[in-house]
Amino acid sequence: MSAPTLAFAAPAKVDGEGLARHVAAVRKLIAAGVAEQRDRGRPVVEAAPEHETATVDEHQRLIFAQAWRNSLVRARHTSYAGWRLDDQALQEDPTDFRLPGGDLPLLDDHQHPAMLRGWLDRLAAGTGKKRHVIGWGGVGSGKSTALIALGNAAVRAGIMTRYVRHGDYLRWTRPDGAPPGMTALQVREFHDRAGLLILDELCGEMDGQATEFARRETADLIDARSASGLPTAFGTNVTFDHVAAVLGSRFASRIGQNALVLEFQAPDRRAPVRWGRS
Ligand SMILES: Nc1ncnc2c1ncn2[C@@H]1O[C@H](COP(=O)(O)OP(=O)(O)O)[C@@H](O)[C@H]1O
Ligand SMILES: [Mg+2]
Repeated sequence: MSAPTLAFAAPAKVDGEGLARHVAAVRKLIAAGVAEQRDRGRPVVEAAPEHETATVDEHQRLIFAQAWRNSLVRARHTSYAGWRLDDQALQEDPTDFRLPGGDLPLLDDHQHPAMLRGWLDRLAAGTGKKRHVIGWGGVGSGKSTALIALGNAAVRAGIMTRYVRHGDYLRWTRPDGAPPGMTALQVREFHDRAGLLILDELCGEMDGQATEFARRETADLIDARSASGLPTAFGTNVTFDHVAAVLGSRFASRIGQNALVLEFQAPDRRAPVRWGRS
């Protein structure tokens, strides 16, 4: 049995009774999806705790938040979910999440929170000139953390956002490769249509020229999104030339032409303790 799909078109205006019926129907779908995943022994994120959703906007945000968190679960990245861009994000969304030392989970300046905030505000206002964001830098420099903080703020701003690693996307679009509870069609639609897609670890597992399949799937995804005017935020530790060599220069130019590039330069925070002397 496939998981229930959430086809959600928010009506422009609903009366109190209509909204209550709608909310109940969507809660039922989410609960069924959660129960099914649990039955299959999969990690699940519980639906947000029940509370009265006063407006359609608020209700829609709840659904977007669930879709966003599901994408982080599939990527095994839920531990990143608490990171926020800035104080504004914390005030809008005061989750009680602290780092082990008690610090607030706010980005450092080198993670470009102000640039990301500005880009997101322009996106939400429809005034942005750069469609994409490219977060580039070494392993452990804080790219995924920054992009997920951007995603948290985007969901809060009413944008349907999903996170996926490039390698996972390519695995999931192979015949019979869709993750449990998703069909191949859903894999494509989820990522083609998200208001903001965070495509992390671009070319992460690739050396040399990618297979024809990987090139085509990646180009199709970005072309479909661009044709609908939808932005993508990329995280990568490889250069433009490397992307051009792996995925083709047409692809690299296509994203490079229209992107805000942010360089991450922090030392590897996950640097292992070293031992011995050489
Ligand atoms: N501003 C920050 N303060 C403290 N720790 C951070 C910060 N940003 C990231 N980290 C931690 O550093 C590690 C590497 O970050 P990550 O975003 O995974 O790097 P990258 O995606 O560039 O490889 C993670 O464990 C993350 O929790
Ligand atoms: Mg990363």
